[in-house]
Amino acid sequence: MKALVLSGGRGTRLRPFSYSMPKQLIPVANQPVLEHVLDNLRAIGVEEVGVIVGDWAPQIRSLLGDGGRYGMRITYIPQDEPRGLADCVAIARDFLGDDDFVMYLGDNMLLQGVREIAEAFRARRPAAQVLVHKVADPRAFGVAEVDAEGRVLAVEEKPQEPRSDLALIGVYFFTPAVHQAVAGIRPSARGELEITDAIAWLVEHGARVEATEYGGYWRDTGCVEDVLDCNRELLDSLTGRTDGMVDAASELVGEVVVEAGARVIRSRIEGPVVVGAGTVIEDSHVDPHTAIGRDCRISDATLGYSIALDGATVRQVRGIHGSLIGRAAVVSAAGEELGRHRVVVGDHTTVEVAA
Ligand code: G1P
Repeated sequence: MKALVLSGGRGTRLRPFSYSMPKQLIPVANQPVLEHVLDNLRAIGVEEVGVIVGDWAPQIRSLLGDGGRYGMRITYIPQDEPRGLADCVAIARDFLGDDDFVMYLGDNMLLQGVREIAEAFRARRPAAQVLVHKVADPRAFGVAEVDAEGRVLAVEEKPQEPRSDLALIGVYFFTPAVHQAVAGIRPSARGELEITDAIAWLVEHGARVEATEYGGYWRDTGCVEDVLDCNRELLDSLTGRTDGMVDAASELVGEVVVEAGARVIRSRIEGPVVVGAGTVIEDSHVDPHTAIGRDCRISDATLGYSIALDGATVRQVRGIHGSLIGRAAVVSAAGEELGRHRVVVGDHTTVEVAA
């Protein structure tokens, strides 16, 4: 079975990060979302991966390369504009040939993997096998109506009046029957060729489409809250290890990873926390569910439930919480004049300070 990983798109809900990096490369527990995706694909025996890339193709290529270091072969398939998920299947037609494949959205995190459903698909080979998950507001997703045997009766993209609370998760298994469906649909109201419409086409033409409810943890990491929640969930299964330096005046509590070349000085870290290579933490407190990237500087600060990307600095600031701090960004105290805030922030940035 091949895989088609979708890594195009603009990531507008992840601004300002998506101005300077593709959303699929946002680190969760210090590993880009896209690498978590490849891990799941390797676990189900996929070796050939087609990656759909848009404007961020160079960044994605420079991380994944030819796939060798993941034990896979990667083919890059450029998409000039985000024209929809079904368009991705169409432009990957040569790569996919007549093989069965799994289509996997590059910003979806399924922390318990997709092993069982892959086995079920391989054994039964319905035209399409989708994963669904109960959500509070299905209107933001593709929504499936499923009978007691797991057969899909109808699917609809972002319906105003959903027929169920079962959202389509961004992992789909297909036989080559999907290609005829993709050829048979037209762009939706948002101007995209929807994979949900292709699945609906299969259902309407009598093909067998099955749904399995995903029992594990799933998030589409399209916005900051979901990235942080996913980070928390992943860190909860962290196993601590110290490859860097922790001085005698510091204390590590719980599961803490200190990568090689990182230094922890006169600080207290309460895990689960991961500290990237080359990072220095001085005179600070780091609270649970925090992932600090490489070459960061945290001094005289307290932070928790946050992600700091590579090269970030947090200096003389207490109470950083629920934050996503970009690459080489600086969060620091204002200096002499108490009660003043100086902000130099880019477009679509959020700064929340104490009133
Ligand atoms: C896409 C699909 C939608 C699916 C969702 C899962 O939505 O169109 O059917 O439920 O991914 O993440 P989008 O992220 O493009 O709005």
